[in-house]
Amino acid sequence: MTRKLKIRYYFLFIFLLLFLNPIVSPALAEKPHKNVDLDQKVRKFLASQEGKWVDWNVPEVDGKVLYDLIIKNNYQKAVEIGTSTGHSAVWIAWALSKTGGKLITIEIDKGRYQKALANFKKAGLTDYIDARLADAHELVEELKGPFDFVFSDADKDWYKNYFIALAPKLEVGGCFTAHNASGNWGGIKEFLDYVQSRPNFDTTIDRSSSSGISISYKIAEE
Ligand SMILES: C[S@@+](CC[C@H](N)C(=O)[O-])C[C@H]1O[C@@H](n2cnc3c(N)ncnc32)[C@H](O)[C@@H]1O
Repeated sequence: MTRKLKIRYYFLFIFLLLFLNPIVSPALAEKPHKNVDLDQKVRKFLASQEGKWVDWNVPEVDGKVLYDLIIKNNYQKAVEIGTSTGHSAVWIAWALSKTGGKLITIEIDKGRYQKALANFKKAGLTDYIDARLADAHELVEELKGPFDFVFSDADKDWYKNYFIALAPKLEVGGCFTAHNASGNWGGIKEFLDYVQSRPNFDTTIDRSSSSGISISYKIAEE
């Protein structure tokens, strides 16, 4: 090979490297197989559970609302109050598996907590969930923030207290969501009146299901 030809090949090589790099790199970086496998596992688990969520679990449509909220806002630091056997946590953690986040979920009942752990394992989501067996009245006070997503679904008469404890630990842009916002449970009205009166929160209610989910975005620090 002549010296001239060698130089030509050298420049061709450099050109191809520069041209192909932006096309090839993102594909390699995403590691699509890992998430495709996880998606399949979660979908299979959820399908196997259809009609079997009997522990006051959220309906599927509400799980999807939580999932979409997390993906849309790229949330990563989530807290759930009231795990039960883990239906909402599966939807939340599935979304967090895509944003690179993690969920702390709290349950006071040992039997439901243990069933939730088994469900997280079956769904392949254990790595994205830090499940705590604890009284949320105490634990939410102790949790160190910051968080960008909260889902409240335990004792309704404590919703306002959960909000008061977690609002300062929520980042601006983050949101506090609460289940059964359309219901007449004791404590719901008091909670909604309180969050709607906060000038640094913007609250709406998603009514995709009859339960309703209040969504309160933190728009500024207090
Ligand atoms: C409506 S269920 C949660 C359903 C769950 N989010 C789901 O979709 O699978 C409420 C749960 O909150 C739990 N709970 C009630 N009071 C609590 C407390 N103080 N601390 C922690 N968990 C509590 C109950 O034991 C119950 O399992």
